[in-house]
Amino acid sequence: MNMVLGEECLTDFIELIHELTGISIKKNRNSLIEGRLRKRIVNLNLTSYEGYFELVQSDKAEQLKFVDLVTTNETYFYRTPRIWEYIEKKFLPQWFINNPNTVFTAWSAASSSGEEAHTLGIICEAFKEKNPTFQYEIIGTDISNEMVDLCQRGEYSGRSIDSFKKNRPELFEKFMKKSSGESYKVTSPIKSRLKFLQHNLFHTFKHSHEFHLVLTRNVLIYFTSLDQERVISLIGPKMADTGVMIIGESESLTHINTSFESIEPLIYKKK
Ligand SMILES: C[S@@+](CC[C@H](N)C(=O)[O-])C[C@H]1O[C@@H](n2cnc3c(N)ncnc32)[C@H](O)[C@@H]1O
Repeated sequence: MNMVLGEECLTDFIELIHELTGISIKKNRNSLIEGRLRKRIVNLNLTSYEGYFELVQSDKAEQLKFVDLVTTNETYFYRTPRIWEYIEKKFLPQWFINNPNTVFTAWSAASSSGEEAHTLGIICEAFKEKNPTFQYEIIGTDISNEMVDLCQRGEYSGRSIDSFKKNRPELFEKFMKKSSGESYKVTSPIKSRLKFLQHNLFHTFKHSHEFHLVLTRNVLIYFTSLDQERVISLIGPKMADTGVMIIGESESLTHINTSFESIEPLIYKKK
């Protein structure tokens, strides 16, 4: 079917994506929007982008599907080894000395399909083996319901686990168990400490704990500076005063107004 995404409709989609997710897309990315939506439009037996825009506006269920389609969910276990080494070798040992009787609580704030939260679970479980009184809870959230479903299923294979297997074979062998076919799941003590929920970072997260570590990695990049400030200002109050926030390799908080200061590249603490 030869559908064309006209300029007016492109603008409508860009505005709607921003309204629903905070994601800012430039006008020259029309092929990205076309590519993400075309198959869905055909599957729904619609014949135009305009028709699909009307449907998304009027149908809440389709809006959820639309959010799944327009978000970029690239992720994998042990992404950016440097930050995992920091958590494992510096952050957790020091945190535990300072807080021997507190349950460590962490938030993977744009968890995608859950690889980041599961990697953290493995690092925490390995730490717990050496420090049996250490307790931890990890919450992963994402705006996409489809991603939250994948997090809850927690089955991983292929590219998602390759780098972890290669970089940390001892952790992989110990804490990942074959489930079906070529897929692996984390072992059950870790699974029981992970929880996944749908959450939009532009809303206040209704969670009663104070987080000691927040991973806000590879999501800020999709937002304007002003929107990044909004998101960070909502996360800050959910963190303990000594809490640490880690961001992605292409992101920085130094050029925007926040209540955080850098400790190391990509790693921030509250001012
Ligand atoms: C590229 S993935 C990052 C995954 C993981 N944090 C990592 O670094 O590997 C970005 C994720 O952010 C989510 N996202 C985008 N906008 C969001 C929002 N407003 N609130 C919550 N999550 C959002 C997307 O659904 C996507 O799964």
